[in-house]
Amino acid sequence: MKKIKKAVLPVAGFGTRFLPATKSSSKEMLPLVDKPLIHYAVKDAVEAGIEQIIFVTGRGKRAIEDYFDISFELEFHLSFQGKSDLVDEMRKISDMADFVYIRQKEPKGLGHAILRAKDVVGDEPFAVILADDVIENRLSGTKQLMDIFERYNCSVLGLERVAKEDVYKYGIVSGREIEKKLFKLDEFVEKPSIEEAVSDKAIIGRYIFTHNIFNELEKTKADKKGEVQLTDAIESLSKKEVVYGKILEGKRFDCGSKLGFLKATVEFALNDKEIKDEFKKYLKEVE
Ligand code: G1P
Repeated sequence: MKKIKKAVLPVAGFGTRFLPATKSSSKEMLPLVDKPLIHYAVKDAVEAGIEQIIFVTGRGKRAIEDYFDISFELEFHLSFQGKSDLVDEMRKISDMADFVYIRQKEPKGLGHAILRAKDVVGDEPFAVILADDVIENRLSGTKQLMDIFERYNCSVLGLERVAKEDVYKYGIVSGREIEKKLFKLDEFVEKPSIEEAVSDKAIIGRYIFTHNIFNELEKTKADKKGEVQLTDAIESLSKKEVVYGKILEGKRFDCGSKLGFLKATVEFALNDKEIKDEFKKYLKEVE
């Protein structure tokens, strides 16, 4: 069985829900306390043993490249001030993995973005991580899926049960439970209404795919909005080979929405050694 060494991180979106903040900067660079969302996504991958991060980027995403690069000027300045701990911390970020950048020239959806990575991924299974979904857990979301992949050698999606009112935000799937929290999937519907939803199980932003997903993506037609949906390609894949879904352990924050982002900010601040005590006190004051 091939080991998974590569993860594709699509980061070309406009981040319209966070405008005007995202007018000149990338949504993935919004910070939870002191680290940008993209840092947590890369960490999720690296903790699962991923060595190469393939970013599918778009216009205005230079900040992501700079973040994972060495900043000579910054390191020089920090060394000059005697802040060697910070220099090490900065250097660790660029050492997290090997980083590759591909441009998605047109905003044609998540499926189209993933397909851009075909040549760099090659003939290997790979992970996909959506930085909007931040998962806090002892084992990273990608690692949890990797464990399933290593046992069954097939594509596997990260799932979470969601409330009826929220199904319209997600790819919703259903299938037979083959062991606790693990499903063999056979129905897939992208952003359904409550009536159209096939279950309460939503795809959250962690996936592992065999390279065959690329053949399906190539054949998948764009929807009415002109977007190639990854979920549609997964459905076609499931007709040819097994696709599993695993309810992930841990707490997930939907950082693609303002409320989810704020909840994550509060919880991360309450876990931050440096500020948690004062922040707790402050929260009581404003209650
Ligand atoms: C995407 C996928 C959707 C999935 C969601 C998870 O939607 O298309 O199937 O459930 O990510 O966050 P987006 O949030 O990009 O609209």
